Order: sequence, then C-alpha cells, then structure tokens
Amino acid sequence: MDTKSETILSDPPVLRIENLSVRRSGKLILKDIDLTLTNGEFVGIVGPNGSGKSTLLLTILGILKPEKGFVKIHDNLPMSPRIYDKLGWVSQAASHLPKNVRITVRELVHLGTIKVGNMFMESDKKGARERVGNAIKMVGLEDVADVSIDRLSGGQRQRAVIARALASKSDFILFDEPLVGIDRETRNDLLKLLDDLCHNEGKTILMVSHDLTAIRQTAHRMIYLEESIRFDGPTEDFPDLVSLANLRGIKPVHSDNHTENLLVNFNEKLK
Ligand SMILES: Nc1ncnc2c1ncn2[C@@H]1O[C@H](COP(=O)(O)OP(=O)(O)OP(=O)(O)O)[C@@H](O)[C@H]1O
Ligand SMILES: [Mg+2]
Repeated sequence: MDTKSETILSDPPVLRIENLSVRRSGKLILKDIDLTLTNGEFVGIVGPNGSGKSTLLLTILGILKPEKGFVKIHDNLPMSPRIYDKLGWVSQAASHLPKNVRITVRELVHLGTIKVGNMFMESDKKGARERVGNAIKMVGLEDVADVSIDRLSGGQRQRAVIARALASKSDFILFDEPLVGIDRETRNDLLKLLDDLCHNEGKTILMVSHDLTAIRQTAHRMIYLEESIRFDGPTEDFPDLVSLANLRGIKPVHSDNHTENLLVNFNEKLK
C-alpha cells in the first residue's frame, strides 16, 4: 500500500503533539513534548506538583500557546470551530462553583449540550434532553437530579461536572484531577464508567491525577511528565518509585530531599 492511500484510509489521530515547548511568564514549563493519542485510549498523566500537567491540558485546549511545536486535535488546531464540540474538559476546580449559584444538577448537565446553532431546533432539544438524562444516570445522580448543586457533597458536585462533559458530544475528554474529594467507592465506579466509555463508545480520555493507585488500575497507558515526558508506555510497564527517581536523574539516596518528597508525595497517594 502506498503512503497516499494509507493516509486516506486511516483517520487522523485524536491528538497529535509535536516538538511542543510552552513558556509561562518567561519560564519554560514544557519542553520538547511529542504525544499522539488514538481513538479509544485512556491515558493517565502523573508527575510532581508544578511539573506542567495542567499547563499541558491548557495548551491542548488552546488557552495557552506553544512557544515551539504544535498541537493538533483531529488534525485541526485547538480552538478551531471544527473541533469545538468534540473536546470536553473537567477541571480540578470545576466543581467549586460559587455558593450563590442556584442551579440544579439537570440544569448544569444541560449546559454541556448547548452550542450555538442547535439552541432553537426542536429535534436537538429532545436529543439533548435524552443525553442529559443518560449522563445523570451514568454518574448515579438520578436521585438528586432536580436538587440545587449547592446542597450536594463535593463528590456529588464533581460527578455532576463529569456528567456535563458526558452529555456533550465530546469524544475527547480532558480531566484535570477529577477524583479529588470523591470517596473510594464512587471513585472506582467513576473510573469504571470512564473505562467503559473508552471501550464501548470510542471516547478518548486524557486524565491527570495524583491518585496513582486509582489511575494505574484503569488507564491503559501512563505518562510521567516533568517538564518533558520521562515515561510513556503501557500501564503495566510503569516504573516503580525508585526507577521513577532515576528517570528524574536523581540518585535515590536517603539524604536527597527532592527524591524523598517525590516518594512521600506518591506514597501518600498509595495509601
Ligand atoms: N499563570 C501562570 N503564570 C506563570 N506561571 C505559572 C502559571 N500557572 C502555573 N505556573 C507555573 O507553571 C508550572 C507548572 O504549573 P502546572 O499548574 O502546569 O503544574 P501541575 O503539574 O499541574 O501541578 P499540580 O500537580 O500542582 O496541579 C509551575 O511552576 C507553576 O508555578
Ligand atoms: Mg495541575
């Protein structure tokens, strides 16, 4: 098969990042990142605080601009109207809505379905209502669907913002610490749900989490990011903590505070 017909037959990757460097306030935060995600992958990103994980997600979203290199989503630049409704995002802070915001779970989830162009079309409204109902069911919030979100627990609110992303037509969803404040049982249910979405509905998920145990149980592929990508491979090959220290070019000796911090950080999450 010649390369031309191969190009026509294979879809472009969901995400293609090449040679990416990003600077914030003059400081180089990401350097020489190459990353390709294909449809249906569930990829976990870990790394110490301040290592550039959120910066990477913000660059994929197009909020931060590369100093060098590029990001393409379905072969389009971030922020391109052609991929606008294909990209979802659930952030660390998404569930911290202002106290005075009175909005029910159903209303919040409905916001995920709104885009310019479909607001006045009856058929889309019906489709949207169905997607909202399904998303609420998927995250297990049916009982509180019509309750104001300010009356929910932190974990329930987080599930509501995940449902908002699920109700949209996004097929590529970025998660920045979505498991914070969620109890272990709900966390496991949610991870199972996200895994099913990848397997059964071809969604692609890129998830940043400090919860190493949880993410290792679910992600198919793991990335260790610290300015650049130090590891990218199948989850079963993810290095142990001592090898991680080596990846960072640090000798794992007792007196090395930096290594200890890393280990303490990860060990805490392993509890
Ligand atoms: N608005 C900003 N302007 C300048 N520098 C910033 C800004 N936000 C973050 N940074 C710096 O960029 C670096 C990477 O931050 P980032 O938030 O991407 O890290 P992170 O890996 O997501 O950390 P965490 O695990 O704490 O969420 C840090 O050194 C941080 O101080
Ligand atoms: Mg972050």
